[in-house]
Amino acid sequence: AATGAGEAARPAAADPPAPALFTWEFGADPYPAYAWLREHAPVHRTELPSGVEAWLVTRYADARQALADSRLSKNPVHHSEGAHGKGKVGIPGERSANLMTHLLNIDPPDHTRLRRLVSKAFTPRRVAAFAPRVQELTDALIDGFAARGEADLIHEFAFPLPIYAICDLLGVPREDQDDFRDWAGMMLRHTKPGGTGGGPRGGVAKAVKKIRGYLAELIHRKRAALPPEPAPDEDLISGLIRASDHGEHLTENEVAAMAFILLFAGFETTVNLIGNGTYALLRTPDQRELLQKSLAAGDRDVLATGIEELLRYDGPVELATWRFATEELTLGGERIAVGDPVLVVLAAADRDPARFDAPDTLDLRRTDNPHLGYGHGIHYCLGAPLARLEGQTALATLLTRLPDIRLAAEPGDLRWRGGLIMRGLRTLPVEFTPAP
Ligand code: HEM
Repeated sequence: AATGAGEAARPAAADPPAPALFTWEFGADPYPAYAWLREHAPVHRTELPSGVEAWLVTRYADARQALADSRLSKNPVHHSEGAHGKGKVGIPGERSANLMTHLLNIDPPDHTRLRRLVSKAFTPRRVAAFAPRVQELTDALIDGFAARGEADLIHEFAFPLPIYAICDLLGVPREDQDDFRDWAGMMLRHTKPGGTGGGPRGGVAKAVKKIRGYLAELIHRKRAALPPEPAPDEDLISGLIRASDHGEHLTENEVAAMAFILLFAGFETTVNLIGNGTYALLRTPDQRELLQKSLAAGDRDVLATGIEELLRYDGPVELATWRFATEELTLGGERIAVGDPVLVVLAAADRDPARFDAPDTLDLRRTDNPHLGYGHGIHYCLGAPLARLEGQTALATLLTRLPDIRLAAEPGDLRWRGGLIMRGLRTLPVEFTPAP
């Protein structure tokens, strides 16, 4: 059980033994292990596959508290192994590519300043205006496989959609977007268990470097060509450069790091929302039918609550990103020492029966649903409106255009991608009656 766990948290002799974490079986279905941890060792110190020791926080109340606790810093400088230690925390490759100063790695006041700047450029209005483009992208991707009667929904649908969407938003020219698709593909393919990203020949780090080089050049070009007044549909990178030029002190490197984190935070997460969400629906016929009937009747309410429920039930982000204690604190009865890494397990918190009725049941009409799938507190997902737009458009269009879509593999044969933070399928084979 937990190293240093309080007496109350120790399992009784009759309890089942502590489950193994971070195995392939755990990857396929981590929820029984999380239920055990919530019950017996809710704040649990463990060794991660990378060798780093960290605390896992699995109860909803503790998770929410930790996400909002200013003593838990996002800056890896506070990690007890040192910021320049073994390079095993954070996004592989970001350190060498100098992309560290992004929102998920910084605390106030820098975080407040950068978040305010990017929020100005990345408004809900901008996202709403983007809806027709997301629909167009979604339809074009479905056109690519609809006549075939079968597809791998991850590679042909869930993966390209968010990449093209974010590229458009950032202002990456269309002719360069397929390069991004390739680099993003490298990042997905090479993610290994434990989040080391050190897959074949350090694929993730390589992809990060390519993206960094491209972004630096793109920012340079956009800065040179920036018109004096913003166009109404000005892209995000230009918006960020403009902000930096008006006394807001956004350095060139901060613009690059911001573009990078938007890409990184908005890509695999959305792939997994579409992938995990479709998978859960295809395995729960009554809920799928409920959604299809409501869409056919022109009602989007079930779609709206349904996307939130899919985030809660099997969300894209299994563990929130790294946090480090800047002072000693107590969480769930455990004493966390200065420098200790703390990982909040969103997937476990969102199945906590102390907060959610029937937490293991997928209920698309659930309205009492304050899930933590987008995080909580000052680092709450900046891209949530875009993610909702993409998730809703993708699922609604898929179920409407391919109404008899079904799984073309046994669930036991599906493989989940490695990686510590995210949870998502490698492939999702489906079949359906060919459609025009
Ligand atoms: C932060 C989830 C899509 C941009 C976060 C966090 C979570 C999250 C859990 C907080 C992490 C933490 O506190 O450690 C998701 C999910 C998504 C999604 C589940 C899709 C379903 C997006 C998209 C974008 C985006 C599409 C942008 C294009 C960001 C950014 C942050 C963030 C910039 C950092 C905010 C900050 O530190 O202030 N997201 N995200 N996300 N997300 Fe998302």
